[in-house]
Amino acid sequence: MTVLAIDAGTTGVTAIVLDTDGRVAARGYREFPQLFPRSGWVEHDPEQIWDAVRAASAEALAAGHRPSCVGITNQRETVALWDRQTLAAPRPAIVWQDRRSADLCERLRAAGHEPAITARTGLRLDPYFSATKLAWLAAEEPQTWAGVRAGRTAVGTVDSYLAARLTGGRVHVTDPSNASRTLLYDLATGDWAEDLCELFDVPRAALPEIVASNAVIGRTDPDAFLGLDLPVAALVGDQQSALFGQACFTPGSSKCTYGTGSFVLANAGTTAPAPEAGLITTVGWRLDGQPTTYALEGSIFVTGAAVQWLRDGLGVIPAAAEIEPLAASVPDSGGVVFVPALTGLGAPDWDPYARGAVFGLTRGSTRAHVARATLDAIAFQVRDVTDAMARCTGRPLTSLTVDGGAAVNNLLCQLQADQLGLPVRRPTVTDTTALGAAYLAGLATGVWADLGEITDRWHLDREFAPAATGVGDDRDATHVRWRRAVTAVREWAA
Ligand code: G3P
Repeated sequence: MTVLAIDAGTTGVTAIVLDTDGRVAARGYREFPQLFPRSGWVEHDPEQIWDAVRAASAEALAAGHRPSCVGITNQRETVALWDRQTLAAPRPAIVWQDRRSADLCERLRAAGHEPAITARTGLRLDPYFSATKLAWLAAEEPQTWAGVRAGRTAVGTVDSYLAARLTGGRVHVTDPSNASRTLLYDLATGDWAEDLCELFDVPRAALPEIVASNAVIGRTDPDAFLGLDLPVAALVGDQQSALFGQACFTPGSSKCTYGTGSFVLANAGTTAPAPEAGLITTVGWRLDGQPTTYALEGSIFVTGAAVQWLRDGLGVIPAAAEIEPLAASVPDSGGVVFVPALTGLGAPDWDPYARGAVFGLTRGSTRAHVARATLDAIAFQVRDVTDAMARCTGRPLTSLTVDGGAAVNNLLCQLQADQLGLPVRRPTVTDTTALGAAYLAGLATGVWADLGEITDRWHLDREFAPAATGVGDDRDATHVRWRRAVTAVREWAA
């Protein structure tokens, strides 16, 4: 028996076929275009996401696997609109990285709304979160919004959009892990908050129904999805999915996923903790018939996207994987510090106006130094949020478990261990985001019986031990220099 999991990420869609032993039997991947219509804006064409879902799934199934169910995981916060009848999108999706609602957030903050919003949702007033993007649409695109008000147009995150596409438009659903990213979800009630819907001008009726993360929501429509008739048995936000895929089932267990951004999440148990030190509180998952599991999160916006920018924006590497040998060709960054605040800064600084900068260039600086500084920046940013987590929980991490695309980069894992002064542990399966959705779908349909079976399937690939000091420098001294650079990009943008 196998399970299909679709991970609709920010820059591409990964599909995996997982066997009952928790091994990846087949894999497919499709990148899709990123649209940057204005400075600070990031959009996706939902149709292109859907095409990539079908293409990646077809590739994963090409060898003849016949999965028994499918689970969906997705980039979070991104908002899509679609016609309930035709499923066509009236406009592009506004992506989580998009900063267009920064001024709107400022106005709401100035009006004193933030403390109550944080208490209800665990989040902050930042353009990252869905409702600020929806409020922008309501104000700036009244014609599109008229369809939403009239009930013709559905509103949702990418999980909801894909659930609609996969089932031929039969359902409009989301799960608590995705809903908790919108600024419209009340952590205490586990439902949409009417007053927040009003504040952000989002009609409650346009929003999806909230179901368990491992619910069977319907079946795939064979005409829409590769001729397959399968139960759609999980919806879960990608970072929470990775927490699940890493078998972080006990409070305090945590993971870091290196994707377009990087996200450190720690299981917080069944009581929502107060978000402090620049972290946010989020739903981890809600299993059918069980209490909600919460998580503390440090959201870093640009890590893999910085590597992609080196490839596509600067052209200094032909392929993302080339960054490792290039960065390894120099002993250190040669004093170059890159702050990749290309879409503002997330945790712990939360500055939507910050922009990226490279410091410390000399005539001796080469593209290898910039590549090395890019990997350093990933490690520094992860340290910033793990330090915040230690402050918030009073419990410093004892190791960091990593996954995601860049976890295969041995140099990054070593730099991370050196910067944290902690062992970095990498599992055998680094497609952990997809893994979580596969496990949730399999739990819903009886492929696996319980969480113990999932824990048994986690295997260590490699542990990176920290060097006594950072490479060529003391880890704290390099971190202090990094923090000075972060302060400088914020001052420059202010
Ligand atoms: O919150 C944004 C996050 O879900 C994006 O994840 O893997 O596409 O970088 P990823």
